[in-house]
Amino acid sequence: MSEALSNLLREDRRFAPPAELAAAANVTADTYGEASADRVAFWERQARRLHWDQEWDQALDWSNAPFAKWFVGGRLNAAYNCVDRHVEAGNGDKVAYHWEGEPGDTRTITYADLQREVSKAANALIELGVQTGDRVAIYMPMIPETVVAMLACARIGAPHTVVFGGFSATALRDRIQDCDARIVITSDGGYRRGAPSALKPQVDQALAECPDVRNVLVVKRTSQDVEWKDGRDLWWHDVVDRQSDQHTPEFFDAEHPLYVMYTSGTTGKPKGILHTTGGYLTQVAWTHWGVFDIKPETDIFWTAADIGWVTGHSYIVYGPLANGVTSVMYEGTPDTPHQGRWWELIAKYGVTILYCAPTAIRTFMKWGEQIPAEFDLTSLRVLGSVGEPINPEAYVWYRTHIGGDRTPVVDTWWQTETGALMISPLPGVTEGKPGAAMKALPGIAAEVVDDAGNPVPNGSGGYLVITEPWPAMLRTLWGDDQRYVDTYWSRFQGRYFAGDGAKKDDDGDIWLLGRVDDVMNVSGHRLSTTEIESALVSHPKVAEAAVVGANDPTTGQAVVAFVIMRGSAASGGDAVVKELRDHVASEIGPIAKPRQILVVDELPKTRSGKIMRRLLRDVAENRELGDVTTLTDSSVMELIRTNLSKPG
Ligand code: WT7
Repeated sequence: MSEALSNLLREDRRFAPPAELAAAANVTADTYGEASADRVAFWERQARRLHWDQEWDQALDWSNAPFAKWFVGGRLNAAYNCVDRHVEAGNGDKVAYHWEGEPGDTRTITYADLQREVSKAANALIELGVQTGDRVAIYMPMIPETVVAMLACARIGAPHTVVFGGFSATALRDRIQDCDARIVITSDGGYRRGAPSALKPQVDQALAECPDVRNVLVVKRTSQDVEWKDGRDLWWHDVVDRQSDQHTPEFFDAEHPLYVMYTSGTTGKPKGILHTTGGYLTQVAWTHWGVFDIKPETDIFWTAADIGWVTGHSYIVYGPLANGVTSVMYEGTPDTPHQGRWWELIAKYGVTILYCAPTAIRTFMKWGEQIPAEFDLTSLRVLGSVGEPINPEAYVWYRTHIGGDRTPVVDTWWQTETGALMISPLPGVTEGKPGAAMKALPGIAAEVVDDAGNPVPNGSGGYLVITEPWPAMLRTLWGDDQRYVDTYWSRFQGRYFAGDGAKKDDDGDIWLLGRVDDVMNVSGHRLSTTEIESALVSHPKVAEAAVVGANDPTTGQAVVAFVIMRGSAASGGDAVVKELRDHVASEIGPIAKPRQILVVDELPKTRSGKIMRRLLRDVAENRELGDVTTLTDSSVMELIRTNLSKPG
């Protein structure tokens, strides 16, 4: 990390908050002090943003650490908080979503519409026998029914598990099996890159090995042909549309499971991150309001992410709806039908806050600043970044060419596990440094520690840890308490290990440096090296595989695989490489496809037999080789280098 890091820390541009924004900001500098004086009391105040049917009698129970309970004894309903209470307050006509389909079709969905649709969907799920506590899998494109389905589950206390529509049938199958879902909600397909892209075939394939799934509810979006299994498959419009639009919500315990979201870990098996209701909703609502400086009456908020990731859960669905805000939701890709689509949408809906990933920004940089320059982006007042470290050049380009050199950029660090934003500037308070996530938010306690767990001095790097429990923290891994303890709470006793490297600069501000474990970040998506390696070796022609994340100018990191073929397939060749890339796509999903596959004769290993990924990364990034003295046979690296002249 050294050279890139010292360049980063020589970054000395500073951007003060705009005076007008600072003067009217939701959160001021005093909040840090107020929150650290009594962290738990701070979160109690934020919890009162929500409607509780019954207030809690204990704010935090940490007696069985690291298993937290927040707002013990409190009762609430997440869907009621996101929908009904806004209607009851007279805001039923307010737009919840300006939805735009990729082909250009649009839908305007008010809070009153949402209340009716969510009630109908809840009634439909009840008719299908879904009970409180049952898991429902959702595998959908970016359409309003995805939000409706999630809220319908929340309303009846059935935890949802949304599987990103870009995941393969195998990945879907594994997730359905792991959380034992009995109902799947999907659609015939969605629009991507100007054409309908199918989802139902993946569901059919997955369910061949999920005998316990009783029903599949299918939303008609593209009208493409679908296979139909009578008795199991039901059209959403047949079942949901005829339901009553009245449904009285039940209130659930604050710790009632809200959802399970799978994410990649360092082993091949994805982890089911469990989020519960009261603490999660409290922190997503507060962070959305505070970090984006939300003014619910006037802001038009847009998180340009997929609902299938935690960013979509927290900042397309639960945060904005809990705050009664109007959001934009877009189905498709940024370059369909032209490379100015996002900017056209911002101008059309008057978007005031945009939240997206650095990989998107770098893509727009590549396409050129003349594209956004054609659109009126003056409505924007805050820009957000998430998913991976934002390099200073992308930050400054974003601020200059999208934000008109006026808007603060908030670089928000968090994870599927943290549920909500954790480390971020505050737009009305922080003097922004391009590339730095800056400081733990009020109510959050973060530290950078060395190998021994001691806080590092300013100017040094180490591991990011969270030192106190926070309301939106994961409660466990679905069905695997021990793995929860081992993965997050064992590396540094009593503290949460995030898996990220970080550095404190001379002012004590935090710069995130990427993962320190076998996890890659490709276009802001988390991928496990081990999972891709297992996918590769599951192919009959592959004997052994090693995967590394190599720096990539657009996607942040890219997947580079080194494979040893079995005897007869040894020569590799373009056809085999293509076959392997497709195999990874069908095992995990197209996002996991290696950018490059290098067929090699041997892999560099330590004397104890561990693959030396660091060296492979050097090769993949065309660097001088690092220290090879612990290699069993350093000529292996020469072999690999030679092979590199014929990349796949
Ligand atoms: C990992 C979590 C949080 C929603 C999207 C990704 C990286 C995330 C930042 C940031 C540097 C970041 C970390 C983290 N990450 N945001 N602002 N700066 N790195 O969620 O899939 O759970 O991935 O993404 O490495 O551990 P996720």
